[in-house]
Amino acid sequence: MRGGTGAFGPYSDAGAVDAVRRLSADELAARQLERLRASLRHAYENVPFYRQSFDRAGVHPEDCRSLADLSRFPFTVKDDLRANYPFGMFAVPQDEIRRIHASSGTTGRPTVVGYTGQDLAVWADVVARSLHAAGGRPGHTVHIAYGYGLFTGGLGAHYGAERLGCTVVPASGGMTARQVQIIQDFRPEIIMVTPSYLLTLLDEFERQGIDPKSTSLRTGLFGAEPWTEEMRREIEERFAIDAVDIYGLSEVMGPGVAQESVETKDGLHIWEDHFYPEVVDPVTGDPLPDGEHGELVFTSLTKEALPVVRYRTRDLTRLLPGTAWPAFRRMERITGRCDDMIILRGVNLFPAQIEEIVLRTPGIAPHFQLRLTREGRLDHLTVRAEARPDATPEERTATVGRIVRGVKDGIGISVAVDIVDPETLERSVGKLKRIVDARD
Ligand code: DLL
Repeated sequence: MRGGTGAFGPYSDAGAVDAVRRLSADELAARQLERLRASLRHAYENVPFYRQSFDRAGVHPEDCRSLADLSRFPFTVKDDLRANYPFGMFAVPQDEIRRIHASSGTTGRPTVVGYTGQDLAVWADVVARSLHAAGGRPGHTVHIAYGYGLFTGGLGAHYGAERLGCTVVPASGGMTARQVQIIQDFRPEIIMVTPSYLLTLLDEFERQGIDPKSTSLRTGLFGAEPWTEEMRREIEERFAIDAVDIYGLSEVMGPGVAQESVETKDGLHIWEDHFYPEVVDPVTGDPLPDGEHGELVFTSLTKEALPVVRYRTRDLTRLLPGTAWPAFRRMERITGRCDDMIILRGVNLFPAQIEEIVLRTPGIAPHFQLRLTREGRLDHLTVRAEARPDATPEERTATVGRIVRGVKDGIGISVAVDIVDPETLERSVGKLKRIVDARD
């Protein structure tokens, strides 16, 4: 790791990406263990919350002698950050904090995260590495349409792209017509945006009579919300781009915790020299072997301001062996969050499963919403999907049956389907909310 050079300046260490890529599994594991022990000590010595939770669990940082020993340490959850609002989880004096971000906090207090200058440098490095894995190179122009502000998306992507030596267009979210104009005029090769806002941009290109395939864009790094292989196909067919997945969360860092390689497009390599992953059973918390589905848990290995120990993400995935970056395990595309799971008459379902079905249905645009209602004691789910502008009335009628059958056969539940006119469902400017819960 380079010393605290600050987040500014060119990617001075052009060889760093290749050196990391060539790490052997043993070298990585040795680096992880050394960093893990230091990070556990740092958390224990500087954050009263961790001292108490380790003491209560009867473990001490010195008990961690192998990576497997990590499972003896207690979990940390979002409510722990909320309970220590705003700065109680910080492990450094306030004057060493260079940046604050916060989650939108739809319910209750937001979660607040902080970064030292060194943390910002590491963050820029992992985002630069992510961009490189996605095919980005120094000299490329990167259009960033993730929101700037307390959300980590915009600024996280920004400093990473600068670090790699790219030209950054800090567009942020919103003002869609102007975004299309600047993409046309500034000719970026790369776009970083939520997949749902990309669809909003796509509509705007078409409204302006511009073929999205004719733009300068060649690569998109899409994340901050779940998306599917069907959505990748839709995006790649309608733009002339490679669409790859980028993952992250504020509590662990922001974007750039894991990145899909453009060479293999086979899930996301976790930058586990900085963020150590585990997958656990979401109910019992028991660690699961690689390959098994469960909840993703992260322990930070190098963070100074906000070390996190066994942080439960609520995201569901599984760990797979490395490919394009051999030493770094991959995580499968996130299939859903524990919080987003709908339990409908005993059957568990995630919005992504509906997305797969809707996007396979001819005549339907890639816009849909899930509406939950209650009649008597029974919950009902209505899939509201938008017709494509060129769909005939017959096609529209036929799609209702297709989606109903697709959901029944694929997921095993009965849903109502409501096909709405083009351009009637609310469009995303950032993270999209798929589920409308009208059960009260
Ligand atoms: O969404 C960080 C980010 C920004 C990632 C831009 C990628 C691109 P939070 O607002 O803290 O941080 O939300 C984190 O978003 O726990 C997941 O549930 C979800 N999420 C993030 N990336 C993906 C992805 C940013 N690629 C939460 N696929 C996470 C599915 C994702 N879900």
